[in-house]
Amino acid sequence: MSTTEFIHRFLPAADGQKTERTLLLLHGTGGNENDLIELGRAIDSDAAILSPRGRVLENGSPRFFRRLSEGVFDEADVIARAHQLGDFIKSAVTEYRIATQHLVVVGYSNGANIAAAMMLLGVAEFPRAILFRAMVPLAKVDPRPAQKAAVLIAEGQFDPIAHPDTGRQLAEMLRATGATVDLIFQSAGHELTPNDVMAARRWLAT
Ligand code: MLT
Repeated sequence: MSTTEFIHRFLPAADGQKTERTLLLLHGTGGNENDLIELGRAIDSDAAILSPRGRVLENGSPRFFRRLSEGVFDEADVIARAHQLGDFIKSAVTEYRIATQHLVVVGYSNGANIAAAMMLLGVAEFPRAILFRAMVPLAKVDPRPAQKAAVLIAEGQFDPIAHPDTGRQLAEMLRATGATVDLIFQSAGHELTPNDVMAARRWLAT
């Protein structure tokens, strides 16, 4: 797999920055490789950024895996796409000399769900993961012991798509992989709020 398999952007850390952190940004349905750059900068302005575009098109809208209807995922495709994206990440780590021990995945909605799927399947190792408005991507999966990732899940109390209960269920599934999970609920729906950015910044600083 080469990095050309995914349309993507890689933005190195600002000149002279000492940070080795790279944010892997995974957008939501209808987004692209540019969608979360501003969010990434707001979370950590010094970090390098790797931001791929999902390869699945739903009525022209990019996503990271197929769904059968709102909230009903094609789980065979979730698994296949998780491996495909995991291979891209491995190629990008080599090509851009990314320090994997300082890799933080930041996913929103569909992007959070493919990130969670990669972690549950053991397809990629993220020391840290920030999952905004995440759902359970795979109903049945034998969670693979991961390398003790630290995860922040930020859900919306009034989210009609990523219901709060799915956040609780996903937290338990990730804990079963050995991850440490902080689960928070914003006074919000599916949209992100400034409080999400502040919570992510605070959490990353711990
Ligand atoms: C979406 O519309 O992207 C859903 O909220 C999540 C998903 O389909 O993965």
